[in-house]
Amino acid sequence: MVHNSKVNTFPYFCGQIKKMSKTVLITGATGGIGLATATDLAGRGYTVIMHGRNRKKTEAARDTILAGQPDAELKIVMADLARLEEVRRLGEEVLILAPTLDVLINNAGVWNSKQELTSEGVEKTFAVNHLGYFLLSHLLLPSLRRSSDGRIVCVASDSHQQIKGMFFDNINLDGNYHGLRAYAQSKLANVLFCYEFDRRRRSDDPTIFAVQPGLVQTDIGLKGNTWLHSLAWKVRRRMSGNKTPAEGAATSIFLATEPNLADQSGLYWDNAAPKKSYSSSYDKDEARILWEMTEEMVGIEKYF
Ligand SMILES: NC(=O)c1ccc[n+]([C@@H]2O[C@H](COP(=O)([O-])OP(=O)(O)OC[C@H]3O[C@@H](n4cnc5c(N)ncnc54)[C@H](OP(=O)(O)O)[C@@H]3O)[C@@H](O)[C@H]2O)c1
Repeated sequence: MVHNSKVNTFPYFCGQIKKMSKTVLITGATGGIGLATATDLAGRGYTVIMHGRNRKKTEAARDTILAGQPDAELKIVMADLARLEEVRRLGEEVLILAPTLDVLINNAGVWNSKQELTSEGVEKTFAVNHLGYFLLSHLLLPSLRRSSDGRIVCVASDSHQQIKGMFFDNINLDGNYHGLRAYAQSKLANVLFCYEFDRRRRSDDPTIFAVQPGLVQTDIGLKGNTWLHSLAWKVRRRMSGNKTPAEGAATSIFLATEPNLADQSGLYWDNAAPKKSYSSSYDKDEARILWEMTEEMVGIEKYF
């Protein structure tokens, strides 16, 4: 259940799509919350750029939307966000595809039972869930600045509360790895990134929002995980009170579409309303250290 009456999902059931000139890029739009977000925004007339890492799966997701909404304006782009060179290539492609980008929804995410390193030697959860958000947001600034109301929505999670702070001395969690710890660290990074981005941005830069979607019935806990963790996720996502992907997408959709949110940039959102995040996410030193470390990891000299 979505507990906020302000949230209005799935207008496309009401009839023909009313075209609008806004463009949104949604990462991880092949399933779960990302596909639900794409479906809704397509129904509102947005041109939706759907990102995936597997072409067949991404085309299938696009075709699912087109089956219900033949007039939807959809484009697809591919990149494995675990690889920085692919994030950079994706950024270049989207700058051409969407010279003006109204909304970037950093949604793609992973949960890994076992420690895996990317080809660049970074723990994969941190790479996809944090480095991907950080770098793509930077690369797309030129297109976002051309919008009169450019926005970045970062899908984070209340899981960030499960750790007291970032493991700066051992960001890859070598010898200390647990899927929950790695995921919590990446989601704390999402919130710290959002707050720090908002402190640093200038008036012509996009606004930014972090989102807690709730506990949502998706496949995130089934991909690349041990059978025990997969079983635990299957049980957990069936528990009462959990959200459908459409319900889990509602706050991202709200933040993408609701007018006049500029003065609420840099906040953490749940059920279409701002809420407090865990105390460590407000630590400005922690956010600055993460920012500087991440700039170095992805090779950015001047973010804005
Ligand atoms: N489900 C929840 O309860 C919950 C709660 C809090 C926060 N969240 C957050 O919500 C977001 C969406 O998750 P979800 O639950 O909807 O999971 P999901 O159904 O597994 O969707 C995740 C998306 O990310 C993509 N992705 C994963 N790794 C990628 C990579 N290396 N490169 C490119 N794309 C990649 C997936 O692509 P494939 O389809 O190819 O796997 C998929 O499109 C995540 O940021 C997650 O942390 C979820």
